[in-house]
Amino acid sequence: MEEESLRSTGISLRLLDVSDVDDFMVWASDDRVTRFCSFESYTSREDGINYIKNIVANHPWLRAICISNRAIGAISVAANSGNDKCRGELGYVLAAEYWGKGIATQAVKMVASTIFDEWPHLERLEALVDVENGGSQRVLEKAGFKREGVLRKYIISKGSTRDMVMFSLLSTDPRI
Ligand SMILES: CC(C)(COP(=O)(O)OP(=O)(O)OC[C@H]1O[C@@H](n2cnc3c(N)ncnc32)[C@H](O)[C@@H]1OP(=O)(O)O)[C@@H](O)C(=O)NCCC(=O)NCCS
Repeated sequence: MEEESLRSTGISLRLLDVSDVDDFMVWASDDRVTRFCSFESYTSREDGINYIKNIVANHPWLRAICISNRAIGAISVAANSGNDKCRGELGYVLAAEYWGKGIATQAVKMVASTIFDEWPHLERLEALVDVENGGSQRVLEKAGFKREGVLRKYIISKGSTRDMVMFSLLSTDPRI
């Protein structure tokens, strides 16, 4: 997928490039955005460049969420191998000024509509969301994911052990 657009919303997904670093820093350095993310807020542009060059460039599936081709967030699917190959984990972030406009929901729907074709071995797209991250849980519900349950004390995030909600969408589930 080089570029995919939802013309009705103006949202597109494309590869995140090192030339996007200043836009990347807008969300990656914002504590409101990174609160529920596994990484700490970025404090240096150089770290942002290194992340895009070393991690993003080698990521199996990571796209910038764009409006008018400007990166305002990112969405990714992490791959598994061996006996876990049937499932991939979805993650997404959006710059705070764009919250509450339905953009993350549209981006998740776009990924859900293409990833099972792109990766024929994938049968399950899953997402783990902090119990206190109500906005992200709502995004997944609106995009047709099934809320499977709470995994108690599942991960350590920023010094505290967190209960996480597991969501999934199967390749055979109806698309909303
Ligand atoms: C989570 C996030 C991606 C949502 O993006 P968004 O574009 O604002 O999401 P949408 O507008 O598509 O939908 C948000 C929904 O959550 C609702 N919502 C927002 N905050 C909420 C809260 N605290 N509790 C419950 N629902 C909430 C909104 O009302 C909306 O639902 P509605 O359309 O029924 O009114 C964005 O807030 C973000 O980047 N947060 C930081 C990173 C993050 O948490 N990523 C996910 C990690 S699992």
